[in-house]
Amino acid sequence: MRKPIIAGNWKMHKTMEEAVDFTEKVKGLVPSNAQVDTVICAPFLFLDRLVKEVNGYNVKIGAQTMHYEEKGAFTGEVSPAALKGIGVSHVILGHSERRELYNETDDSVNKKVLSAFRYGMIPIVCVGESLEQWENGETNEHVGNQVKRALQGLTEEQVKCLVIAYEPIWAIGTGKSSTAEGADEVCGHIRQVIENNFSKEAADAVRIQYGGSVKPENIRDFISCPNIDGALVGGASLDPDSFLALLEASI
Ligand code: G3P
Repeated sequence: MRKPIIAGNWKMHKTMEEAVDFTEKVKGLVPSNAQVDTVICAPFLFLDRLVKEVNGYNVKIGAQTMHYEEKGAFTGEVSPAALKGIGVSHVILGHSERRELYNETDDSVNKKVLSAFRYGMIPIVCVGESLEQWENGETNEHVGNQVKRALQGLTEEQVKCLVIAYEPIWAIGTGKSSTAEGADEVCGHIRQVIENNFSKEAADAVRIQYGGSVKPENIRDFISCPNIDGALVGGASLDPDSFLALLEASI
């Protein structure tokens, strides 16, 4: 009953020319948005152009981070108002690379999530454990805490329309994905945390993606699990044929 959502996270890849070329190749071939929500999260520089490129097609354009303030003396940052102003609909928040390399914390992620809603954008909130936490059996506790902190202060209605991406850090870009059963169990725990902190309705409605070495060959294993509603895909989202294959396999 929850519509799958497949989001490509291009990270710091592609030039403008390559980004436009990719979009031209895929936009007419993506499945209908009655079947799957398709999002491309590109570097800031390409967003304005890509929003225009996909206008009228079943593709949405997302950012990979943003600041939480509307404006101010934050050199190098991009505001939610600026993103909304060019038609960006989704924004990845709290990706583990941002947490590890750019000092994002549960607190700043929470501020960004609240801010995304203020500007009418859908946050894709990333959570996930390190290899050490996974090996020590701390995954559910860690991920549950990240979810609670990221969603603090949201209304039940907001929780229902956001997206959570569960990405075990040890599975990102390593070719080593979690087992589908293991990922489903953690996503089930996330749903339980949302039920405990918001409501059963919110837990049933929220869409949870799996991310970490998802490819056309393994995506079905993940999205056929009861608690997994799509994927956040890095490497395999960069090639048009592979991205289209991911979308096809998700419906
Ligand atoms: O956000 C997506 C991501 O971190 C997973 O990357 O390359 O393992 O699909 P990848």
